[in-house]
Amino acid sequence: MPAQKPKSPGSPRPQRVLRDDSTARVIAKTDFPRTRLSLAQDLARLGVRQNDKLIVHTSMRSLGWVNGGPVAYIQSLMDTVGPEGTIVMPTQSGDNSDPGDWRHPPIPDEWIDEVKRTMPAYDPAVTPTWRMGTVPELFRTMPGVYRSGHPSGSFAAWGRGAEEIVANHGFQRIGEESAVARLYDLDGKVLLVGVGYDRNTSFHLCEYRAKTTTFVPELMPLVFDGKIEWTEVTEIEFMDDESLTSLGQAFEAENDVVFGQVGSAESRLFDVRNCVDFGVRWLDRIHGG
Ligand SMILES: CC(C)(COP(=O)(O)OP(=O)(O)OC[C@H]1O[C@@H](n2cnc3c(N)ncnc32)[C@H](O)[C@@H]1OP(=O)(O)O)[C@@H](O)C(=O)NCCC(=O)NCCS
Repeated sequence: MPAQKPKSPGSPRPQRVLRDDSTARVIAKTDFPRTRLSLAQDLARLGVRQNDKLIVHTSMRSLGWVNGGPVAYIQSLMDTVGPEGTIVMPTQSGDNSDPGDWRHPPIPDEWIDEVKRTMPAYDPAVTPTWRMGTVPELFRTMPGVYRSGHPSGSFAAWGRGAEEIVANHGFQRIGEESAVARLYDLDGKVLLVGVGYDRNTSFHLCEYRAKTTTFVPELMPLVFDGKIEWTEVTEIEFMDDESLTSLGQAFEAENDVVFGQVGSAESRLFDVRNCVDFGVRWLDRIHGG
């Protein structure tokens, strides 16, 4: 675009033509702009410390209006844990999966073979996240962030040990080779910002560890030489949102969960190990294992 001549001081300002009602609602609910610094202060007040290893789940709009949006928020997380800390986020691409399993919404049966035949191969540098929000979608592209190789269930990580945390993800989304299991080993913490326990991916690791878990076959779009080979693997039947919420309530009643606000967002901070170990016992208890 050619450079434009500056308008004379008296000329009217151009009308904005794009409407963004969603952001307008966020602004209307915000008393004062949140910034990289104010969010870092809130995170520190909540109990996030230098060197922490966090898995973070966020609703951006729940923070209130942030100057710099997800960029400033992610920078505030990085500032708070520092260069020796680690940030992990789920960067799932649930639409990079067997279309025969899609339910919300399904596609017509007669499309399924064609969709499988023409699906773009998973590429950690390119494949967008799906229903994860603007924060992980930006995070996966930031310098120093590594993303794992699971076609539909990837994680991205930044900071100390990031590359190892997402290496060798294996065939199961949230199993023993996933970033959640690595954070369990490293004594990491879960940070929920403006979202509930139904977004706590770490609870799914319990499902692989519980005695009562049901394993099911699944077709996975594995990538060889840049091309998909649909391959049968074993996965688990994941808990639904209602069960995750019930598990969260039970966990919270008996364990250390720190509550606080990041911007306007109701937030929780707790140990990965505690939540996974509690979840295994809870699942086996309710399923009689
Ligand atoms: C689904 C989910 C992302 C929706 O949250 P959300 O706040 O509505 O959406 P995002 O985080 O994508 O943020 C986008 C919103 O931020 C708001 N926004 C825009 N600019 C903003 C700014 N500068 N500051 C704050 N909010 C802003 C807008 O309302 C925007 O909504 P729009 O997409 O309708 O325009 C959230 O509920 C969630 O589930 N997050 C966790 C995901 C996860 O970790 N899942 C694990 C599953 S195992």
